[in-house]
Amino acid sequence: MMESNAIPAPLAGPDGCAGPTADRAPVTGTVAALAAQGWSVTPDFLEPDLVAVLRQELTDAWTSGAFRRAGVGRGAQREFRPEVRTDWVRWLDPQTCSAAQGAYLAALERLRQALNAALYLGLFEFEAHQAVYPPGSYYRKHLDQFIGIGARRVSCILYLNADWQADDGGQLRLYTDAEVPDRHVDILPTGGTLATFLSARFLHEVLPARRARMSITGWFSTRG
Ligand code: OGA
Ligand code: MN
Repeated sequence: MMESNAIPAPLAGPDGCAGPTADRAPVTGTVAALAAQGWSVTPDFLEPDLVAVLRQELTDAWTSGAFRRAGVGRGAQREFRPEVRTDWVRWLDPQTCSAAQGAYLAALERLRQALNAALYLGLFEFEAHQAVYPPGSYYRKHLDQFIGIGARRVSCILYLNADWQADDGGQLRLYTDAEVPDRHVDILPTGGTLATFLSARFLHEVLPARRARMSITGWFSTRG
């Protein structure tokens, strides 16, 4: 968990020139879709150069063994449940993250402020992890809430995959209507696409991926 005011501004690169930025990330369209229907899909939320850096950093972290199997539940209740999910995660620390990760977090800080201004959601903090779904991995139907805890309000997933095809699987299946249990949209995890939805309202699942599937997944929460 982090304080919202701790989100870093885009940093300078090692040679002193400006690093990648996300200054043009289209937060207005994302807010409008979330306001209208409770979820959004924004292609090209980040520019391809920045997505490529984020993908390379994730690949390097994976190769160095920095990921852990994702669990289910929180604290002492946390357990590894391969029948529920088989992805691997690495939490991001905003104090030590890369310039590219900082640029993404800065764009999400703008999104947080716009959401609070438009929808009075009282979003206060953001927690995020890198995620890898090795071939064959999935995350069965679930809500992004812990039983008895309601603080997670908006889920945000940025995909990092180059040239993802429908045949590659790994779609985010979002169930869009609680009254019509089978109604859903399938979102391809294409690099640069940002998917968001109200965490307490939408059941969703990740269909089995046939290629390694990479993303940065995070949640805006109200003050704990
Ligand atoms: C999650 C999740 C969806 C996705 O990590 O809770 O539902 O598309 N991820 O990666
Ligand atoms: Mn989820």
